[in-house]
Amino acid sequence: MNLRAVKGMNDVLPDEIGRWHRLENAFRTQVELYRYEEVRPPLVEATALFARQIGEVSDIVEKEMYSFTHHGEDLTLRPEGTAGVARAYVEHHIHNKEPLSRWYYLGPMFRSERPQKGRYRQFYQAGCEVFGDPGPAVDAEMIDMLVRLMTQLGIADITAHVNTLGGAGTRARYRDVLVAYLTPRAAELSEDSQRRLATNPLRILDSKDPRDAAIVAEAPSVLDVLEADDRAHFDGLCRYLNELGTPHVVDSRLVRGFDYYTRTLFELRSASGELGSQNALGGGGRYDRMVAELGGPDVPGIGFALGLERILLAMPQTQPPARKSVYLAPLGEAATAEALRIARSLRRYGIVADVDGRQTSLKSMLRRANGVSATYCIVVGETEMKQGTVQVKDLAGHNQEDLSRTDVARILADRIRSSRPPGGA
Ligand code: HAM
Repeated sequence: MNLRAVKGMNDVLPDEIGRWHRLENAFRTQVELYRYEEVRPPLVEATALFARQIGEVSDIVEKEMYSFTHHGEDLTLRPEGTAGVARAYVEHHIHNKEPLSRWYYLGPMFRSERPQKGRYRQFYQAGCEVFGDPGPAVDAEMIDMLVRLMTQLGIADITAHVNTLGGAGTRARYRDVLVAYLTPRAAELSEDSQRRLATNPLRILDSKDPRDAAIVAEAPSVLDVLEADDRAHFDGLCRYLNELGTPHVVDSRLVRGFDYYTRTLFELRSASGELGSQNALGGGGRYDRMVAELGGPDVPGIGFALGLERILLAMPQTQPPARKSVYLAPLGEAATAEALRIARSLRRYGIVADVDGRQTSLKSMLRRANGVSATYCIVVGETEMKQGTVQVKDLAGHNQEDLSRTDVARILADRIRSSRPPGGA
């Protein structure tokens, strides 16, 4: 039987995990400076939650959800985080406890898309959601925070695209204007867009099909039909972004694949060729109706999610320096027990220590010590056991010395700690 990982679902192996940790730590550190707190909703929710919030005629709900029925319940592996987080916010009556909540989450999402580089069926998102702030200052601060995080991660070629869809009034107005423009041109549109003309015309602006490009380029802009309060909100957002000096472009063609958005929309795109067409590193927007639609009070929301695999593809490939460590090479069983004790003391000092318990030759143990880039190798042999000493090899300096077996852990721990750069490994 040849069992393999499910198509589009990837193993992250230990040799890649260091970069993941670096990204996740940078994200947590950054968002916690803005007082975001972590929330961990379940991976499975009622199918109806996504169908209603993301939209029955969105690509995700129409064809990408992993849905199943279990004991009569219709359930779905979460394709995104916002709907579940908002459900938790309403279910636990958070608005009664605080007027403003800033939450973040990290974890896998599931969409049955056609896999390719940067597009997977299980992928990881790191996201933030703010409940209770109508903006536009928080909208601008969120976009600014993301641009700053990308710069800190070494991703320079990033552009923040921003747009607005306005509220229900503007959206209905724009839909009519767009349909009136597209209908006489319907025959020239791709089949997908022709279908969307009836179901979800705004999504045509997002089409990647070359047949739609010229028509979309000439389409009327949502910015020309904004109602007065939507216009004031968007102007406020652009003013704050300018005052913060946040690089961005206003992109009136930006629409995103969720029905829940109102007003502000944004997407971070990388110009590097590395990602090809999957160049959106993250995106988000405002969803001022969602909490009320889920049975909660009239509380506005805004958030974003980053695609971690895509960010890792865009991040420079630098390897952090290996952590200093000690390898213990015992010869014989009595020596192994001593090695286990010494290793335990080293770890109490916070030093990484491996005991080679294979009862193999010194040569192969030294080969392994070099293989894991250990700083020191402690050889515990029979002669040394009798003398109460161990032999310490400095693997980089290629010199060796005998140390008392009761002091060796403290001495090596002191040496390793005093050689560390401040804040380093
Ligand atoms: P989204 O644009 O669907 O938004 O996803 C956010 C990011 O997740 C994308 O920009 C992309 O980097 C990554 N992503 C999406 N699909 C895949 C995939 N199949 N494979 C790899 N990466 C992928 C949301 O999910 C919204 N919930 C964001 C949000 C939060 N809006 C308001 N709050």
